Amino acid sequence: MNSPQPTMAFAPQGQQATRGPLEEVLDGLRSPQKTLPCKLFYDERGSQLFDEICELDEYYVTRTELSIMEKHSNEMAAALGPETLLVEYGSGASTKTRLLLEQLENPAGYVPIDISGDYLLETSEQLSRDYPAVPVYPLAADFTAQFDLPVAAQRRGNRAVYFPGSTIGNFEVSEAAQLLKNVAKLVGSSGKLLIGVDLEKKPEILRNAYSDSKGITAEFNRNILSHINVAYRGTFDVNSFDHQAVYNADKARIEMRLLSSRDQTVRVCEEIFTFAAGESILTEYSHKYTVERFGAIARDAGLSLREVWTDPENLFSVQLYEVA
Ligand code: AVI
Repeated sequence: MNSPQPTMAFAPQGQQATRGPLEEVLDGLRSPQKTLPCKLFYDERGSQLFDEICELDEYYVTRTELSIMEKHSNEMAAALGPETLLVEYGSGASTKTRLLLEQLENPAGYVPIDISGDYLLETSEQLSRDYPAVPVYPLAADFTAQFDLPVAAQRRGNRAVYFPGSTIGNFEVSEAAQLLKNVAKLVGSSGKLLIGVDLEKKPEILRNAYSDSKGITAEFNRNILSHINVAYRGTFDVNSFDHQAVYNADKARIEMRLLSSRDQTVRVCEEIFTFAAGESILTEYSHKYTVERFGAIARDAGLSLREVWTDPENLFSVQLYEVA
């Protein structure tokens, strides 16, 4: 069967970012606790390094979520119901989504949303070839900002957002709460959310997952500086920053930082920043939740928990919510 070619939609710029990425970088470096936005990990090299992280023995996240999807995607698809319009936040390679698309009854369409337009079009074309019965409506957008669904998808099916990968853990709790409210609004009455949420566990497992023995996560963390050097005329001496991943038990989150190994000054886009030896840049939070704690945040956003799937060791969860 011939599949229609997907046409890419772009969220209008004015509707999207409130602050450009350069402003975010400069503001973050100006603050007393220097910070950098973790979305800047993912240039080409950073995305390769993240793929390597996903293959590490210590990084249980990806393989555990995949095993849950492989085992339960039929139940998930049944719970999502027929004629679902599946909207994926941060779709990337859409690997886990294929498991759902294969199980969904008469899906109304698939809207992969990703910031990287070129890659998105490539994966969408491949999906259209592999699933000719599923209309694909790719949308190049930042899903954390405001966006509308592509016009052709707006009146189709029962909306469900799929947000895998535990990316929700990379947002501060208040930001996660706001994102869930936006999801509830997007899917509307009786709409659904299927989300991958990493669970609280022994700190030792977490420390190993975020400070792996091969040093890949350290390279991934430092690569944010190389990215800034290229994209924003930075002068970071990348090797003079050390990777640190600490588990903050009070906040139930991994905190990743880069520690300056010496006193130094760095220029980014003509602005000068000074670092004392030992001073840190906060690069990422990765929050871990109990099902109850995440459920309470979702409930405040108007989403009721319908089902939870986990692995035998309770490392990871895939949770299904419905707008109450
Ligand atoms: C993308 N995100 C869910 C990863 C995580 O586990 O928080 C990013 C990552 N950071 C270090 N390792 C992986």
